[in-house]
Amino acid sequence: MKSYTLIAPAKINLHLEIIGIRPDNYHELVMIMQTVDLADRVEVKSLSTDEIILHCGHPNVPLDETNLAYRAAQLMQQEFPDALIESGGVDITLHKHIPVAAGLAGGSGNAAAVLVGIDLLWELGLTQIDLQKLGARLGSDVPFCISGGTAIATGRGEAISPLPSLEGIYVVLGKYQSLEVSTPWAYTTYRHEFEHQYAQDLDSLADRSHRIHSGDLVRAIVATDTVKIGKLLYNDLEKVVLPAYPLVSQLRAEFQRHANLGTMMSGSGPTVFSLASSRAQAEVLYHQVRAAIPDPDLELFVAQFCDRGVRVI
Ligand code: C5P
Repeated sequence: MKSYTLIAPAKINLHLEIIGIRPDNYHELVMIMQTVDLADRVEVKSLSTDEIILHCGHPNVPLDETNLAYRAAQLMQQEFPDALIESGGVDITLHKHIPVAAGLAGGSGNAAAVLVGIDLLWELGLTQIDLQKLGARLGSDVPFCISGGTAIATGRGEAISPLPSLEGIYVVLGKYQSLEVSTPWAYTTYRHEFEHQYAQDLDSLADRSHRIHSGDLVRAIVATDTVKIGKLLYNDLEKVVLPAYPLVSQLRAEFQRHANLGTMMSGSGPTVFSLASSRAQAEVLYHQVRAAIPDPDLELFVAQFCDRGVRVI
């Protein structure tokens, strides 16, 4: 039986701006995404039957079609029925290290790894663009998780333009294990409160979407100016998540008190992160936040920016 092991890294958002609503009721976004080396391990194996079997030891990870990794395998079965008959089903094991429902695209990364893994198992020879088109049908973050690195993501989040690598920058991440924020809730609440600020016509949507490419943050990324990148971190969803979740707000304040580069919430939260210019600085920050908040429910991680998404090991 053939098998592959894949690394599926987490992402953070250096910039997340909501600029409008789309005909499909999703939001039109302008984001800058960054892969970090906090990662899950995903094993895929051929099965002699046509089943999809999912294993995961994490209590909050479902093992049926409510899991995006399972749906990724279903999508491949639908799209490539001949390969399914020839090569059989797939047995998937998720080894979770990325916190769940954290704003770190852990579920999207697992789905991305399943697409890449089945492409290899079934010897389909799909291109990265083919895989990203399939990924976009599963979730807005899946296409970015396939390619990874540093990139602008527009549209629903699925239109990816790569940026120069920021590999090596350190980041400290914090998340309360028992705290989860629903992404649909965050976007719906944002829409209720801020819809009056949305771009009202297609021209102004396109204009706001294009502005990022020549914006200050992209210039700072091109120059690898970590101090400036830290100052320019931005996330619209903080406006709804922080007031509704005082614990996240306090955690963010604690990170900001000790960090000398920027601090921000990732995605729809509740993970908060601060940048650090060296491993030593990241470790100092890690210990300062740990000393200030000794609550064992708070998980802290030191990670590094990396320059690619899903990879085979
Ligand atoms: O695409 P995905 O399934 O990951 O999105 C999860 C939820 O986030 C959607 O159901 C929607 O509520 C919200 N969302 C949005 N606009 C986007 C991406 C996500 O409103 N561009």
